[in-house]
Amino acid sequence: MSKPTIHLAIFASGTGSNARKIIEHFQDSPTVKVALVLSNNPDAGVLGIAEECHIPTHIVNRASFRQPELLLPVLESYSIDFIVLAGFLWLIPPFLVKAYRQRMVNIHPSLLPAHGGKGMYGMHVHEAVFKAKETESGITIHWVDDHYDEGQIIFQHKVALEPGDNPQAIARKVLEVEHAYFPKIVEQCLSDLDQD
Ligand code: GRF
Repeated sequence: MSKPTIHLAIFASGTGSNARKIIEHFQDSPTVKVALVLSNNPDAGVLGIAEECHIPTHIVNRASFRQPELLLPVLESYSIDFIVLAGFLWLIPPFLVKAYRQRMVNIHPSLLPAHGGKGMYGMHVHEAVFKAKETESGITIHWVDDHYDEGQIIFQHKVALEPGDNPQAIARKVLEVEHAYFPKIVEQCLSDLDQD
């Protein structure tokens, strides 16, 4: 018997370069479909990417994101099995963590637990790494729990930093590794999914 299709939602607040990589990765998949791109930011670049790839989009505001009776039906209407946070800036409300426990992953652009937590996103992370004179940084992909960047770690990959690397250079190095690994790790998580 063929496997049922897994419906993926990507939540993103910004540019969406990771979202694009994931969409491209699963474009021809017989078992995985990126069924929804959700954003809190009506101006996010990721929405243009979704449109280009003919993927439905949904915009949330703070109130609709925090109310189970408003958010869960949206996800149900796209039969969402698994959520990928790809640069999504809002904390996930407990009801959603519970509904998608071990079915929601986040990527963070540092080697957690270093340089994570509230307010640590985008260039703030790379500036902190720079200020701390780290000799390496990297990526962390982890399950999502009720706290920023604290869920169980699934995968990490290091990048070496040179003394001359400014925050922009660190960001470039880290993003390259995100693009290389995030889609593959998501695929691995999906293949381990219990579809009962
Ligand atoms: C990435 O660095 C990701 O780790 C972080 O936000 C950034 C998103 O970049 N959570 P993009 O929108 O995928 O280009």
